[in-house]
Amino acid sequence: MNPEAILSQVYDPQTGHLSGGMTVRRHLSDLRNSFSNPAAVDEHLKQEDPLLYEVVAVEPGDADGDLHYGLGILYPGQIDGEYYLTKGHYHETREAAEVYIGLRGEGMMLLEDEQSGESRLEPLGAGKVVYVPGHTAHRTMNTGSEPLTYFGIYPADAGHDYGALAERNFHKVLIEENGNPVLRDRRIEEQP
Ligand SMILES: [Fe+2]
Repeated sequence: MNPEAILSQVYDPQTGHLSGGMTVRRHLSDLRNSFSNPAAVDEHLKQEDPLLYEVVAVEPGDADGDLHYGLGILYPGQIDGEYYLTKGHYHETREAAEVYIGLRGEGMMLLEDEQSGESRLEPLGAGKVVYVPGHTAHRTMNTGSEPLTYFGIYPADAGHDYGALAERNFHKVLIEENGNPVLRDRRIEEQP
């Protein structure tokens, strides 16, 4: 089955609605501490609290060897030059790897090795495939002007661990400079 056929099972392009699994929707207010400038998020929230991304997780079974997969739609936008992003996570089962397949749009994945702390940026757009090894935090960012749509396929027992990154966030941030995405060290700022 090709990706478009799988996509059509869970995503209705007419309505933009996802179905067929458990859907999570994250708004800007849910991502306040994921951005490097929470004060800029607060300023934006005075006007609106936009939907940043939605993920539908399809879980056909939980037996040993089963796979789960999720379709993500990350909308375009920026906060203080930083692209709209997902929270990012490790897998609870740290050795669990994942394959991402870009279907539509333009974006990047930020990968961070848990042991070394080293960061890596991989293009994730239409036709791009990114392999996320185990023990690697991963986050998606939309660098284009259209919704970024992608699949993630992972072992059924992978689980999601958001806690470690909620504490300290990723070491790097992806910002737009002169129209191009540039990876920078996270600035340590006082949290208001
Ligand atoms: Fe994952």
